Amino acid sequence: EAIKKMGELGLMGIMVDPKWNGAGMDTVSYAIAMEEISRVDASCGVIMSVNNSLVCFLLEKFASDTIKEAYLKPLASGEKLGAFSLSEPQSGSDASNMKTHAKKEGNHYIINGIKNWVTSGIHSDYVILFAVTTPGVGHKGISCFIIKKGCDGFVTGKPENKLGIRASDTCELYFDNVKVPIENLIGKEGEGFRIALETLDGGRIGIAAQALGIAQASLDASISYSKERIQFGKSISTNQAIQYKIADMAIEIESARLLAYKAAWLKDQKQSYGQIASMAKVYASEMAMRASTQCVQIHGGYGYMRESGIERLMRDAKITQIYEGTSEIQRIVIARKLLQ
Ligand code: CAA
Repeated sequence: EAIKKMGELGLMGIMVDPKWNGAGMDTVSYAIAMEEISRVDASCGVIMSVNNSLVCFLLEKFASDTIKEAYLKPLASGEKLGAFSLSEPQSGSDASNMKTHAKKEGNHYIINGIKNWVTSGIHSDYVILFAVTTPGVGHKGISCFIIKKGCDGFVTGKPENKLGIRASDTCELYFDNVKVPIENLIGKEGEGFRIALETLDGGRIGIAAQALGIAQASLDASISYSKERIQFGKSISTNQAIQYKIADMAIEIESARLLAYKAAWLKDQKQSYGQIASMAKVYASEMAMRASTQCVQIHGGYGYMRESGIERLMRDAKITQIYEGTSEIQRIVIARKLLQ
């Protein structure tokens, strides 16, 4: 229900051209919207992020007009929901080591394999899939497809029982001789891995903004609770130990926000942005973990209780250090560029 309303507000295709039913706004606007939604609910944030920066961006940039007409339009308007399936049980960070394969037979590809950790895997209508079309040549043998839910042999797994972002579904997807028309190939055969990595560069700006939202919510809650909570006859906000925590949170949030906006602005200026997007993602996600942990600390025993809603910030922050490339992978991307 909430996601449908977000679609009506234009939040599901923020950067998409209005001719494909998008809101036609820029990446900086997208980062601001992602932060504000995630400030209230990081699960809605990730559903929005995957649909905008992994699915709609990929389709608008790499797909044919026929695919855009059929798939991008309903995804950008929020009428349909998209998922992005890259990871497999044996290939997470080592994304090109995938086993799912697509064999061309006449006018179709026959897909077999398993994908996991798929955000919105259950509730999505369309899924971006990466599969090997030419085995034995590494990443150069990977291709990208769009697949409609409901075709024979395409089965959705059970929802994963996660630590955080529990209102966003995550599941495995199973492909058993799934027949996909050749028109559903995005780009050319063998271009899939490059498409995935270029898409993830932009996705990482979305996750940086999601982490920012969680951190800002942690700061907001810390300020209001510390002013209300009386101990030793005065509000705890008068203690320097609490003030230092709040000041450090604000410094780090502002730094992360500027990094995320810089990455978004570079993307809007059509300049190279992958390295800064990785910096924004790693810094904002690690900062969100620190801010949400301090927020629980400021709230004391109350913050540790489920009903406070405070511990959720800490559980939701953790995943931002893991998905769309772990902190370790981001540092590899940053260092490779520096050492090039
Ligand atoms: N854009 C376009 N192309 C790129 C690129 C980029 N940013 N980075 C690399 N490439 C190209 C390279 O030039 C190379 O092509 P050539 O051989 O033709 O020169 C090719 O891609 C392979 O590059 P590498 O040799 O650098 O590849 P690698 O195997 O060493 O891996 C990696 C690089 C950075 C580690 C990459 O595998 C990676 O980012 N891993 C993390 C995967 C990830 O982020 N997964 C997230 C899953 S999705 C998700 O989480 C969504 C969700 O649900 C929220």
